[in-house]
Amino acid sequence: ADINLQEVHDFMISIAKQAGERIVSAKPTTENAGSKMNSVDLVTETDRAVESLISTALREKYPNFSFMGEETYKPGDKITSEPTFICDPIDGTTNFVHRYPYVSISLGLAINLEPTVGIVYNPFTQTLYSAIKGQGAYLNQTTKLPLSPPTPLETLNSCLVAVEWGSDRSGNDFKVKSGTFKKLAATKEEGGGMVHGIRSFGSAALNLCGVASGGLDIYWEAGCWAWDVCAGWVILKEAGGVMVDANPGNWEPRVDERRYFAVRGGEGQKEIIEEFWGLVDGAFE
Ligand code: IPD
Repeated sequence: ADINLQEVHDFMISIAKQAGERIVSAKPTTENAGSKMNSVDLVTETDRAVESLISTALREKYPNFSFMGEETYKPGDKITSEPTFICDPIDGTTNFVHRYPYVSISLGLAINLEPTVGIVYNPFTQTLYSAIKGQGAYLNQTTKLPLSPPTPLETLNSCLVAVEWGSDRSGNDFKVKSGTFKKLAATKEEGGGMVHGIRSFGSAALNLCGVASGGLDIYWEAGCWAWDVCAGWVILKEAGGVMVDANPGNWEPRVDERRYFAVRGGEGQKEIIEEFWGLVDGAFE
């Protein structure tokens, strides 16, 4: 049956707003946060409660759709071609427990593994990003993204680049990240790109929305998950941006591959992607 994407989108927004109220009224602390993979991979009671609120509402309204969420994911769980809600109840848990107000609910719908509806809501700043495939991306449902007509992407050394350390702090992937960060910053004489600056929101979804808005030119990361990127991916694409793989050479990444490289709208995307890939120091596993 045909899916009424507008109706799904509107329902997802209403759920994200309810989740947002729950998040802003919580009183997290760094002391009562638990950790998952290691001491920097944090989770709180609020993450779990918010995911349960969201999944209960979505399952009730859309019983035939699948659901994947960060807090209930089990290794081996796969996204199928069925319509699947992909949810991070709190993207930016570290910010949340430190009370740094860059936190979002990242709620996407993938169909045939293609990100199709995306809602990213920061309840602290009350900033809502949303998009439906083929229908444009919006800030607070009224302002079209990007926020201003995109200038051409000239060279990397005029770019503002978002990256994240993520929670892997050793091994090959950590080495690729740290080596690449250094190359991005270094002068041309040092073999670098000398970008204007390097930023991190601490929420993959908000980084993607920053690129969609046009304030950030690029976001490059490995180690994050489908729930961190599914929603922001739709918003990025609908704002004229592109998503490729963080590892050089792959122009068609998958939502479940855990490596992403987003570039804002504007002329020169292909050239800037190739220039950036030329600086990637190794390959993610
Ligand atoms: C994390 C954030 C962070 C990214 C990590 C994610 P979480 O999500 O998006 O920016 O670097 O890879 O895991 O744990 O706060 O939901």
